Amino acid sequence: MRCLRRRTPSAQWTNKLAGFSQDIDNSSSSTNDSSSTLSTLTKGLPVSLRLEGPYFTPADPYRYKTVICIVAGTGVSGALAIAGAFKELERQSLQVTSTPNSEAERKSSVSTSRIWTRCVVIWSVREEHFIQLPELSSAPSSGLDVRVHLTGPGKQRLSVDDALDRILGEGASSTWVYISGPNAFIAAGEMACKKRQERGVEWYGARWDI
Ligand SMILES: NC(=O)c1ccc[n+]([C@@H]2O[C@H](COP(=O)([O-])OP(=O)(O)OC[C@H]3O[C@@H](n4cnc5c(N)ncnc54)[C@H](OP(=O)(O)O)[C@@H]3O)[C@@H](O)[C@H]2O)c1
Repeated sequence: MRCLRRRTPSAQWTNKLAGFSQDIDNSSSSTNDSSSTLSTLTKGLPVSLRLEGPYFTPADPYRYKTVICIVAGTGVSGALAIAGAFKELERQSLQVTSTPNSEAERKSSVSTSRIWTRCVVIWSVREEHFIQLPELSSAPSSGLDVRVHLTGPGKQRLSVDDALDRILGEGASSTWVYISGPNAFIAAGEMACKKRQERGVEWYGARWDI
């Protein structure tokens, strides 16, 4: 029988968040009163929290050669998970072939041992919301390719059609597109993918409010 281990309360992210506020409270006040924690938080370190989700994605990117994440704003969260899975796959492939005779052998065995060899993340984000996300960083030799599109006053919005055509023109075959962001953005992404269905494009629009 499979035994599920109960997670200790401290392992929950909500407890970690609460612990963070307590740390701030303890450093500036001796009281354990939760309302004073809130006031210390308000008076002390400014904490900005945006809470969303949970989100669900029946993603199976491993079946495709190229995975493209076209994401906007906080919709980047799904792309972080996909990029993380891709980097882990790359790490495992490199481990399997860690003692090759030559660099050429290493490259060829890595590319033949798995289907998914390329992951492109296109992130449209307002300039003032942009932050560097460590999950999207990668080694220069990695197949992870991250393209940030900044928007704001005087800046053009991302054309999903152009972005897709650019990647498909770079020789993408067996392509799956993950789309997430505001509903109008998802609709534009789905339309762009549908138009390219005959070129082997499959897609998933991460809607959660329908
Ligand atoms: N289902 C999921 O897994 C999931 C996960 C996370 C988030 N989400 C959803 O994603 C949404 C993110 O909202 P947000 O407030 O972070 O976004 P936002 O700041 O309003 O917009 C993010 C980016 O998308 C651009 N954009 C918006 N609509 C567009 C369109 N129709 N065509 C082209 N570009 C467009 C914006 O350009 P401008 O600056 O020009 O407006 C900006 O660069 C939320 O609705 C959230 O619920 C879904």
